[in-house]
This record gives sequence, C-alpha cells and structure tokens, in this order.
Amino acid sequence: MAEHPEQDKLGEHLLAAEADELDRAAEAALRPRRLAEFIGQPVVRDQLSLVLDAANARGRTPDHVLLAGPPGLGKTTLAMIIAAEVDGALRLTSGPAVQHAGDLAAILSALQEGDVLFIDEIHRLARPAEEMLYLAMEDFRVDVVVGKGPGATAIPLSLPRFTVVGATTRSGLLPAPLRDRFGFTAHMDFYSTAELESVLRRSARLLGAELAESAAAEIAKRSRGTPRIANRLLRRVQDWAQVRGTGALDHAAAMAALKVFEVDELGLDRLDRSVMRALCERFNGGPAGLTTLAVAVGEEPETVETVVEPFLVREGLMARTPRGRVATAAAFAHLGLTPPNQSGMLWD
Ligand SMILES: Nc1ncnc2c1ncn2[C@@H]1O[C@H](COP(=O)(O)OP(=O)(O)OP(=O)(O)O)[C@@H](O)[C@H]1O
Ligand SMILES: [Mg+2]
Repeated sequence: MAEHPEQDKLGEHLLAAEADELDRAAEAALRPRRLAEFIGQPVVRDQLSLVLDAANARGRTPDHVLLAGPPGLGKTTLAMIIAAEVDGALRLTSGPAVQHAGDLAAILSALQEGDVLFIDEIHRLARPAEEMLYLAMEDFRVDVVVGKGPGATAIPLSLPRFTVVGATTRSGLLPAPLRDRFGFTAHMDFYSTAELESVLRRSARLLGAELAESAAAEIAKRSRGTPRIANRLLRRVQDWAQVRGTGALDHAAAMAALKVFEVDELGLDRLDRSVMRALCERFNGGPAGLTTLAVAVGEEPETVETVVEPFLVREGLMARTPRGRVATAAAFAHLGLTPPNQSGMLWD
C-alpha cells in the first residue's frame, strides 16, 4: 500500500471514535435536535425525559446532569438537546479551556436564568476551578476574588439558577465531590447494530441520499457501536458511489468502499489487524508487553493502548493480563490462523 500514502492515512483514522475537523463540520448537520429524534440509549433517554419533563412541569431548571461514556456516542448531542428541551441558552466550555478559576468565574457570572452550561471533558478541569464549580452548582454562588495577596477579598456573588451538563469519557477520574453534585448521571453505552442502522437511515435522509437496507446493515455492523464512526463510513461510501459507482448507496458500493478503506467485517482496520497479527504470529498469542507489541507494529505504545486495544478487548479478541497482552482463540480464528498449542495456551 506504500504507493497510496494518502489513502493509508485516511484508513488509519477512519475508525477512531474521536472527532476530527471533517467530522465536526459534517456532524453539525446530522445532530438530532430533540430527545424524540435521538436514536438508541433507551435507558438514558427515558431517564432524561423524566428529569426534563418534571423540571418543565415545575417551571424550574433541571438538576445538573453528567453524561459519561466513550467518544462519539452522543454526549455533546444530548447536551444540546437538553438546552433545546428546557428552552435554555446553551453556553459551551470545556475542562481544558478553563485554566484558572478566574476563567470559570467569568463564565459563571455571565450566566442567565435557565441557561445550560455545557462543560465538555469536565474531568480535565483545574482543581481551583473545580472547587469554584462545587459552590456554584450547590449554592448558586461564586466568590469573586478582588485584589491580590494579603489584601485580597472574596466578594460573594449570587448566580441565577442554571443547569450544568458535564460530559466525560473518563468518569472514573472525576473527584467524588464533583460527581456527587450532579443530580443524575447518564451512562452512555455502545449502540446495537439495529440502532446504528437507524442512525444511518436518518443521516442518509438528511443528506438527501437513498441508502439501501443491506448497505446500512453492512456499514452498521462495522461501526464499532459508535454513531460517529457510522456517519463517517457513510460518507466514504457516498464518496465511492459518486466517484467509482453508479451514485447509488447500495450493497455493492458499501462493500467496495469498506474494502478500499480496509475495514473488515468486525470493524477492525489495518492497525488493529497488524497488532493482532503481531501478537498471534510473532509472539505466539502472547503474553506480550505493551511496549514490545507497539514496537513490533511501529506505533506509539499510547496509540496501541488507547486507540487499538479497547475495541479488541471489547470484542473478545485480546485480553490484558498481569503478564501482558494475550490473543484469544477468537483472534486466531478471525485472522484465519491456528492457535499454537491448544493446552492452556492463554490462561494460567
Ligand atoms: N443517538 C443518536 N442518533 C443519531 N445520531 C447520533 C446519535 N448519537 C450521536 N449521533 C451522531 O454522532 C455524532 C457524534 O456525537 P457527539 O458529538 O454527540 O458525540 P460525543 O459523545 O460528544 O463525542 P466526544 O466524546 O468525542 O465529544 C453526532 O454528530 C451525531 O450526528
Ligand atoms: Mg462531544
């Protein structure tokens, strides 16, 4: 594939759950605006609709909501929906954007009654900002510090009632006091293939394209339970159909596009497969250390650990053991390989 460097690059990132610039542009048009339009996550939807309806019925701002789950499952989308459902203005910020408590004080003191303050990656807030946020969430108050050094005084400022919607991919990193100030935590789960098919049908409709059922099924199956990936694969299928196909988003177009981008029937891409192949062939199924494995495929250990492994583990192709990474029988089967020796190969 060395003769197609551009394509290699695209292929590598095609199945990352994180958004890139192209995604962000394309996604804005595809985001559901209302809870009723939001596909899947039945438990979260039910919980949220209860919380929001109750708040609306009482004429109060809803409790603070924490949205927890892996990238690309719809946390930002839900935050926007919450604001729309309670008819509040959405204010956006993120943990890394708030470097100092003063940054947060400025945001908080500009809030209006009923606003929804969305804090993305809330687990990355700086500690002093976190403490200021506790007070604001609980007592709707912020202490504005005036002056510097020993002469500094804190002037309490009361805030209008507002709702914090926090999003995090790492809820485990959230300190307990912050977690406790959310009235409700929505745990987002990966989507079923059927749900992703609905996401794809909806996206195709919004893009003015006709997507064949069998094509939707094929794309959904390979999207790793993630709407963002499903939408991205749909765009690649559209590309293929337009440039090399008949324009129709049919089964043949889906299969051909997925082949070009080397997305296999489990939703593994080339990097995933080369990690698996190294583990199975060069290390006899393991155990192999993360660094060793990363060197073998010419990648950073961090990429292997955060981008590749979670999905392989989730799919039951790899296990992380105290002694290192281990390939399962399913991994050998998927690669069409025979496991080295059958007796107690994987587990002690
Ligand atoms: N339930 C859904 N129904 C339809 N489309 C969805 C749904 N959830 C997510 N999407 C689509 O997936 C895209 C990604 O969702 P979103 O940006 O909300 O994910 P996220 O959880 O905030 O990801 P990140 O952790 O990277 O910020 C959205 O643009 C939207 O088009
Ligand atoms: Mg987001």
